[in-house]
Amino acid sequence: SEGYDLVVVANRLPVDFSVGDDGQVDWQRSPGGLVTALEPVMREADGAWVGWSGAPDLAHEPFEADGMLLVPVTLSAAEIERYYEGFSNDTLWPLYHDVIAPPTYHRQWFDAYRRVNQRFAEAAAAQAAHGGVVWVHDYQLQLVPKMLRDLRPDLRIGFFDHIPFPAVELFQQLPWRKQIIEGLLGADLVGFQRGGDASNFLRSVRRLTDHTTRGSIVTTLDENGRPGRRVRAAAFPISIDTHHFDQLARSPEIEARAKEIRADLGDPDVMMLGVDRLDYTKGIRHRIKAYGEILQDGRLDVEHATLVQVASPSRENVGAYQDLRDDVEVLVGRINGEFGELGHSAIHYLHHSYPPEEMAALYLAADVMLVTSLRDGMNLVAKEYIAARHDLGGVLVLSEFTGAADELAPGPLLVNPHDIDGMKDIIVAAANMDHREKRRRMRNLRRKVMADDVAKWSKAFLGVLTAVPSRDTYV
Ligand code: G6P
Repeated sequence: SEGYDLVVVANRLPVDFSVGDDGQVDWQRSPGGLVTALEPVMREADGAWVGWSGAPDLAHEPFEADGMLLVPVTLSAAEIERYYEGFSNDTLWPLYHDVIAPPTYHRQWFDAYRRVNQRFAEAAAAQAAHGGVVWVHDYQLQLVPKMLRDLRPDLRIGFFDHIPFPAVELFQQLPWRKQIIEGLLGADLVGFQRGGDASNFLRSVRRLTDHTTRGSIVTTLDENGRPGRRVRAAAFPISIDTHHFDQLARSPEIEARAKEIRADLGDPDVMMLGVDRLDYTKGIRHRIKAYGEILQDGRLDVEHATLVQVASPSRENVGAYQDLRDDVEVLVGRINGEFGELGHSAIHYLHHSYPPEEMAALYLAADVMLVTSLRDGMNLVAKEYIAARHDLGGVLVLSEFTGAADELAPGPLLVNPHDIDGMKDIIVAAANMDHREKRRRMRNLRRKVMADDVAKWSKAFLGVLTAVPSRDTYV
């Protein structure tokens, strides 16, 4: 039949476009986490991927790449400002991360969000085969499930929320909370990272709508006030391509590069590492403050220890991200100025993003990995670090406020990043941990992480989604 059996809808396509001097549009693969997750299922099914081209007004016909159809959605500069930078990343992102930064509520931004979600829904509706499966991803596209169901009631629709879902007491701040809930309930299956996120969602459904819930199932009320469709809400904790990271870290080139990194740093006794998008949810300020105090207290010193902080550029047009960059750079400068010595920096701050090969070498080189998010849906850096440590070396310091902490405890050293004194003690303990305990902890962590790779995650989600009886079953 016509159309694609599996259609993925995500804000970004798994390719980057570039426009040459002659105006010619070209593209390169951009191997993000999601595409790695979905590649195996996309290859098996007849798959299409609907996503934003990534640049203003950049239009491109659908095209075949890596065994799937890529369907670019075009956004104007004003839509990028209101839908992407505005509503997605200055309203929903801070609200869903427990208002670490104050969310901004703008009616114009929501109007743009609605219009852009409608465009994504129409693009998906045009590609999906009759009775096909459409999998919608993340907070940028929460209205798509309902819009798509209105266009194509024959489809099975899944939604996965990659970020936290907040408590109803926070969620109810949103002036458009009802539209968002109704949008999500257009799906047959709504997936979350943690059980706690699914319960938060179900609580919001109960508090803010007339639909009923029983366990993890929502029964919607139809227009006549009668029980309508059923929607399941459940946790599907995401993972990474564990095998790939493990293999990468075992390659002689990467092992050599890891040694070279340590040598470039002056062969410190303790190399600490932070790897984050430069985002205020990641607790980078808290971490660096704690590290500076540890140096101040003389519990570590720059001749023996150093911190490498990779902060990859992100959402640079959003004010809160600009403020964060300024704060972090002032803080790093101050600590380096105060404690650094010739040939020994306190903190090596890198405002770049690196390919997976370089990341694997950094992970392999680092004695202590610091993941100190104030709030984080999952945190895949923690899992990448574990997957890279086939040598059973290295200590993971992990914030309690990550989805990963739910899954991985008790292997990591857990921290509350708001408790600076507590975090300092844990960082020092990590730096001094003996070899045997390191190995014991890392072995436990690897047992958990290596068992659940991301292909398993997508199969689990799609397995539950396709087991949903077709819509005609409910009368
Ligand atoms: C988080 C979100 C993703 C997003 C990514 C990068 O992981 O859950 O949906 O793609 O950050 O952010 P960006 O705004 O650059 O897409």
